[in-house]
Amino acid sequence: MAFGERIPIKTRSEIEKMRTANLHVAEILLELREMVKPGITTRELDRYAEKAIAERGVESSFKGYDPHGLPKYPAVLCVSVNDEIVHGIPADRELEEEDIVSLDFGVSVDGFHGDSAVTVPVGEVDADTQKLLDVTSDALSLAIDTMVPGKRLSDIGHAVQERAESEGYSVVRVFAGHGIGRKLHEPPWIPNYGAPNRGPRLMQGMVLAIEPMVNVGRAEVKVLDDEWTAVTVDGSLSAHFEHTILVSEDGPDVLTRIEGSH
Ligand code: MF3
Ligand code: CO
Repeated sequence: MAFGERIPIKTRSEIEKMRTANLHVAEILLELREMVKPGITTRELDRYAEKAIAERGVESSFKGYDPHGLPKYPAVLCVSVNDEIVHGIPADRELEEEDIVSLDFGVSVDGFHGDSAVTVPVGEVDADTQKLLDVTSDALSLAIDTMVPGKRLSDIGHAVQERAESEGYSVVRVFAGHGIGRKLHEPPWIPNYGAPNRGPRLMQGMVLAIEPMVNVGRAEVKVLDDEWTAVTVDGSLSAHFEHTILVSEDGPDVLTRIEGSH
């Protein structure tokens, strides 16, 4: 995804399709987060998501995804535990009390995609861990608040960085938010850091997926031998939250937010 490419503006009918896709994402993600308990395997979560996709007659945005000629992504869900940042592949790993787990999920309807992620505690976690989740979620909310027509693209990442770094956390730099629509990843690339008031102006009809990834320790990332799972280099905990948002005349319209969701 190159910088400087034009940011698609969605028509009314495209927005309706995106609303539908993102509503499915929000509902399934809410069901998945309720299944998170000690003892469940990450593959069981993926299986549930795959069944939900089939029942609703929608399509996975992730399964078979092939961004850079690496192995195609093999599941419908990314499940990233503790020091795993994003793109964890579902497997036989059982979730344990005190883990944190990021569930990242996307579907398409009539060719238009939806994308959202949430990080949840498994059972009880300590106050420091809960704080990482709260701050990352808060960073996403503050970023969303900037998404008003006329504001500029870098205001989004600036809001994330300010919130995360004010607690001594670091933001991951090698992954970013993105435009979303006919493709899961469209221009622009939306870093979770940067100076304010730079880049293109936000316009009514843009749809953007904003996804802060925040580490307790250093920002550096390494990718495991499976060529997907991204982990923190220093082994510190990482949290990830994502919403798909329409920039509307009245401000941000969070297409993946429903009652009870993040
Ligand atoms: N929400 C993630 C992203 O926007 C998930 C993509 S992973 C893949 O990058 F499965 F699609 F590859
Ligand atoms: Co995304």
